[in-house]
Amino acid sequence: MVKTISDGIVISPIKNGTVIDHITPGEGLTVLRILGIRDGTNVTVIVASNVPSSRGGRKDMVKIENRELLKDEVDKIALVAPDATISIIRNFKVSVKKTVEVPKQITGVIKCPNPNCITNTKEPVQSKFVVHPRGFRCQYCDSLISSEMDIGDYI
Ligand SMILES: Nc1ncnc2c1ncn2[C@@H]1O[C@H](COP(=O)(O)OP(=O)(O)OP(=O)(O)O)[C@@H](O)[C@H]1O
Ligand SMILES: [Mg+2]
Ligand SMILES: [Zn+2]
Repeated sequence: MVKTISDGIVISPIKNGTVIDHITPGEGLTVLRILGIRDGTNVTVIVASNVPSSRGGRKDMVKIENRELLKDEVDKIALVAPDATISIIRNFKVSVKKTVEVPKQITGVIKCPNPNCITNTKEPVQSKFVVHPRGFRCQYCDSLISSEMDIGDYI
């Protein structure tokens, strides 16, 4: 079997699928959770965690066979891994490569940490967060999810 070397890690290449590279170290499993991949999910996945990055420092990396991502999924990944690159692999080659972008406004994705927020009641109001210099702010109750908090805990 031919191997591919990715920043010093030797793995089998995938024929078709998606590579999410340059993930914030430690967030690879959060990315899997965002994609609904968990124990018992019948997909082939390779996760590398806390490996040296060619760009310096460390990173996580996720490779998923036979799956291409939806825009909604990419937008969620951007929240936990703003430096991630997404490469679609077709017939062993990078067919499309893109960076992720943190949306200015995030609707229906982040759960507000304030239990009394209208978005956490029975009212049919979707959560809405806007990018703030120190994190993400709820448009309804002004709760701040600061950069020191783990945004992944609220997705
Ligand atoms: N067939 C494949 N199977 C698995 N992973 C692949 C395959 N082809 C490319 N990759 C991975 O896809 C990612 C993007 O490929 P690319 O060739 O752009 O990497 P790169 O030159 O290391 O880019 P970067 O500067 O973003 O790290 C890399 O992580 C690479 O290891
Ligand atoms: Mg690389
Ligand atoms: Zn709120």
